[in-house]
Amino acid sequence: MVTDPGQRSAIGEVYRRAFRAYAAAGGTNAERYADDPARQATQLRVGASAAWLGEHMGEVPVLVIACRRIAKLSAGSQADVWGSLLPAAWSYMLAARARRLGTAWTTLHLDHEAEVAALLGLPEDIRQGVLIPTAYYTGETFKAAPRQPLDTVLHLDRW
Ligand SMILES: Cc1cc2nc3c(=O)[nH]c(=O)nc-3n(C[C@H](O)[C@H](O)[C@H](O)COP(=O)(O)O)c2cc1C
Repeated sequence: MVTDPGQRSAIGEVYRRAFRAYAAAGGTNAERYADDPARQATQLRVGASAAWLGEHMGEVPVLVIACRRIAKLSAGSQADVWGSLLPAAWSYMLAARARRLGTAWTTLHLDHEAEVAALLGLPEDIRQGVLIPTAYYTGETFKAAPRQPLDTVLHLDRW
């Protein structure tokens, strides 16, 4: 967990650089949904929100970076490796939400993972899985997000 303003600002600089590269490469791909105006509008809002975070990550009061010790990352499936970390991180986000704290799942800084590891003094075998900015949210306009129809995402018995 990172709360020191200098450390947050340094991580924020790395994140800003990673986000700008991501945005320059096409970002949220809102044009992919040109034939679905409602979905495109949502995607544009997500993009605007992500762009704001891209410039302000270092100002968020608490940056949680969930890590785990990994001797060597295999080239094959990493499901067992990250599967040990992600449920804990997600549980943290749900617990935060219950306490009026907002969070966002972010991984773009991992393009420069070693740089952030050096900032934090992480040992070589400690790998980062997610960077979760955490702060009290303002406003109460949350509502359920639209979902794709179940039969387009659920496969029964075979793909
Ligand atoms: C694996 C993964 C990595 C993500 N990385 C980032 C990221 O680096 N930056 C970001 O702004 N959003 C990232 N997102 C998306 C956001 O966490 C969030 O899901 C998205 O902005 C949709 O917002 P909503 O969940 O509030 O609707 C990532 C999502 C996933 C699943």
